[in-house]
Amino acid sequence: MKRHLFAANWKMHLGPKAAQEYLATFLRRYRNRPERDVWFFPPAVSVEAASQTVSGHAGIAVGVQDIHWEPKGALTGAVSAALAAEAGAKAALVGHSERRHVFGETDADTGRKVRAALDHRLTPVLCVGEKWEERERGETERVVERQLAAGLANLPAGRESGQLGRLVVAYEPVWAIGTGKTATPRDAALVHRAIRAWLAARGAVTACILYGGSVNAANIADLLAEPEIEGVLVGGASLDVESWLTICAAG
Ligand code: PGA
Repeated sequence: MKRHLFAANWKMHLGPKAAQEYLATFLRRYRNRPERDVWFFPPAVSVEAASQTVSGHAGIAVGVQDIHWEPKGALTGAVSAALAAEAGAKAALVGHSERRHVFGETDADTGRKVRAALDHRLTPVLCVGEKWEERERGETERVVERQLAAGLANLPAGRESGQLGRLVVAYEPVWAIGTGKTATPRDAALVHRAIRAWLAARGAVTACILYGGSVNAANIADLLAEPEIEGVLVGGASLDVESWLTICAAG
């Protein structure tokens, strides 16, 4: 049976106590399926509490929403991959649309972050996706491929394909994030196929490709029905534990 990854991006919500309460409810009610992984991306201050709460539960892990590429230093407000790993993170989002478009993160930054994540045994979840104008101009694939190339630009030569096996890519069209507009499952699947082909041409046949952007309990089944969609990255609809339990039980 095909493996699926359900990733919850809590953005700037749920401090340590609220995260623990949420996860305690989730763990009590979630019916574990061996072919399904569930990852939570709380705000950095909640990573340690969250990872302690899920510790020992197979298939459930915690990650960080962002990392800095430097291992340490005078970088006020930043969290390195090493610090995140020490707090219990197993994965890191890289290049989320809000990091790119609100905080000005560049393609080059994403390349440094993917490398730092891999160097500290965090699975990078590289987020890519086009803006609405880019889609209208027919540039979706070009934009996504540019973001993939930049995100994977700093992998050590020769070890590329081995490292890419630990990569997760999340295709999140910018216009679909938090807007209630989703790409149709078919449109998303076409972009996933292009991403898969791009990765396969570089020897990465095992990387996992997620869809994100206004995923909810009502549209999850149709998205998962597309074989190209190997999981989802969910913001708003993951904040309510009931809605997230429904999403994680779909398909
Ligand atoms: P959304 O966010 O589900 O609220 O659209 C997805 C994301 O930003 O990862």
